[in-house]
Amino acid sequence: MTQQVRGVIAPGKNEPVRVEMILVPDPGPGEAVVQVRACGVCHTDLHYKQGGISDEFPFLLGHEASGVVESVGKGVTEVAPGDFVILNWRAVCGQCRACLRGRPQYCFDTHNARQKMTLVGGTSRTKLGGGTELSPALGIGAFAEKTLVAAGQCTKVDPAVAPAVAGLLGCGVMAGIGAAINTGGVGRGDSVAVIGCGGVGDAAIAGSRLAGAGRIIAVDIDDRKLETARRMGATHTVNSRSTDPVEAIRELTGGFGADVVIDAVGHPETYKQAFYARDLAGTVVLVGVPTPEMTLELPLLDVFGRGGALKSSWYGDCLPSRDFPMLIDLHLQGRLDLGAFVTETIGLDDIEKAFARMHEGDVLRSVVEF
Ligand SMILES: NC(=O)c1ccc[n+]([C@@H]2O[C@H](COP(=O)([O-])OP(=O)(O)OC[C@H]3O[C@@H](n4cnc5c(N)ncnc54)[C@H](O)[C@@H]3O)[C@@H](O)[C@H]2O)c1
Ligand SMILES: [Zn+2]
Ligand SMILES: [Zn+2]
Repeated sequence: MTQQVRGVIAPGKNEPVRVEMILVPDPGPGEAVVQVRACGVCHTDLHYKQGGISDEFPFLLGHEASGVVESVGKGVTEVAPGDFVILNWRAVCGQCRACLRGRPQYCFDTHNARQKMTLVGGTSRTKLGGGTELSPALGIGAFAEKTLVAAGQCTKVDPAVAPAVAGLLGCGVMAGIGAAINTGGVGRGDSVAVIGCGGVGDAAIAGSRLAGAGRIIAVDIDDRKLETARRMGATHTVNSRSTDPVEAIRELTGGFGADVVIDAVGHPETYKQAFYARDLAGTVVLVGVPTPEMTLELPLLDVFGRGGALKSSWYGDCLPSRDFPMLIDLHLQGRLDLGAFVTETIGLDDIEKAFARMHEGDVLRSVVEF
């Protein structure tokens, strides 16, 4: 039986988001319907609304979520109704060339639900009619009371954790922690610099602390963000509006640069800072997402001469089945303060306001609770 629930859609490029009734089909083979408990507002949702990711409007926004499995389709064995799960946007296929080589974190054929969620009816404010197919953000679409996903997008974790906290691991916080630990390979004693201290950058800071980094330098253009970064584990902070971050990072690392520099903004300017602020043979990790018009120019001789590794981090190179339960356990043991990422909890009607607050730099994460 198809169900009608409230969900938040982005109807067109730069148009305000709004709450609409949407149809959620029963789960087909390999699919699950999840009652969403919490969903964080990520910068990527804003990118969708601005048309920076694709033009497949209308989008059903929201992708940083936890919830309870309500029903599963045929052949689903990994989760069952009643399971408390975190949703992930890279359900690995197990069969592509990356998976077959034992590198499922790079899976080239991740999958989502096959069936589409649709709009119930057009309203007077819109040309979109009933039956219009929705594009769920990152294949999730969890600014909705219920959502349809592939069962592989559900990872069971300890239900003792608060839903708002758990949901954050579904995207930004996992991307940041993983950018440091999985992609950057940060280890004991390493020096790390993180450019951009929003939810993702702060998670990279928390991840670096967890991994035993010796020096963690936070860079942002907003002093309030730098204050929070300190609470997350930064040992030094640099405001790159007033101070050259490359010079500052070198000064703080004996004149050499950091072993690992993480760009959690994703602009050509911040990437170049990351490139030059790292030590010889160091690692740059790009976890911020650029937009299609951005290009990068670097002297090729510097790329060669400085050596090391220039890496991109898709979803923190995480494996949800390995990383979600482990990080939730560390949180429940008091060793990783995931609660510090939740600035405020809001309702479904408040998402436009949450975007504005994100834009103003007022929040780390606003989380919609159901
Ligand atoms: N790779 C992935 O898998 C993945 C996953 C989630 C999010 N992201 C991306 O990560 C990026 C950050 O996301 P977020 O949710 O933390 O965003 P956010 O808006 O919360 O944080 C961005 C931070 O960058 C700072 N900033 C902006 N311009 C800067 C500059 N020139 N120099 C230094 N700091 C600057 C802002 O002050 C802010 O603190 C986004 O591009 C998002 O799309 C990537
Ligand atoms: Zn695969
Ligand atoms: Zn996200």
